[in-house]
Amino acid sequence: MKVFLSGNIAQVGLNELEENNVSITQWSEKRQITAEELIAACQDQDGLISVGPNKIDAAFLQACKHLKVIALHSVGYDQVDLEEAKKLNIKIGNTPGVLSGATADTAFLLMLAVSRKAFYLHKKIINGEWKNYEPTPDLGIELNGKTLGIFGLGKIGLEMAKKCIGAYQMPVIYHNRSRNNEAEKEIGAKYVSFEELLAQSDVISVHTALTPETKDQFNLNVFKQMKSTSIFINTARGGIHNEEDLTKALEEKIIWGAGLDVTNPEPMQKDNVLLNMDNVAILPHIGSATEETRNAMAQIIVKNIVAGLKGDSLPYQV
Ligand code: DGY
Repeated sequence: MKVFLSGNIAQVGLNELEENNVSITQWSEKRQITAEELIAACQDQDGLISVGPNKIDAAFLQACKHLKVIALHSVGYDQVDLEEAKKLNIKIGNTPGVLSGATADTAFLLMLAVSRKAFYLHKKIINGEWKNYEPTPDLGIELNGKTLGIFGLGKIGLEMAKKCIGAYQMPVIYHNRSRNNEAEKEIGAKYVSFEELLAQSDVISVHTALTPETKDQFNLNVFKQMKSTSIFINTARGGIHNEEDLTKALEEKIIWGAGLDVTNPEPMQKDNVLLNMDNVAILPHIGSATEETRNAMAQIIVKNIVAGLKGDSLPYQV
């Protein structure tokens, strides 16, 4: 059985593919494969391991309707036309669960980095601007006892909430499409309306999927409903916040700070004004990027691919 791999996965996954007699053709260039190149590369394949933001849209799926399975190197599947895949009987697998802890760590890291202006102050040292000890400039804010608002309380949001409770005894409120009764019981999270989430949170952390409904959900009008002392964190998808509006909200001190692991577009250009703001911390979409998590993701991908090639349902099917 033949599979196209559109990037790289952890070595443990490559080894397991070999052990399962899956023959791999791998995209080896440093740049992201284009839509046309991906279609061409998949023509003589039985499956695809999709690494990176490849659009698995109707055009791709129609051109590759012979594929049995597509295993995503991500938990998110906003780039996939699921309806079309279902119509064409192409199974789609993702990597849920194993990356929740690492991604929540990234959200926590950004929250703390923003609250103490850590990335900005680090840059000051590099720029030779560490001069005298001065007690008043560049002060941060403390997180102890502050209210955490989770937008999208699923597995990753729950991990973030637990870290914030453990470290800073932060009361947790959340807004979801439907209530998360388990999380309410486990950590005492309180369900609130979206408006209440905006008005009451000291930190808002986004952990929802990008859908037509959540696209641009955090826009200027929404930032205006947040506390002027609040911090906005997004480790989910850049499309959920409007970046121009976020920039304005920070410039005009409508909110206090922001931490992003996801931007819109990606990659972010190096001259983006957000990169020079004191209360902003930005990372290049590294949410799940730990040895342990990337190994676990690669092993799930192999399970999904092998099951799909056999015609079985996938252990982690979207
Ligand atoms: C995910 O798993 O969805 C990550 O954000 C990588 O895209």
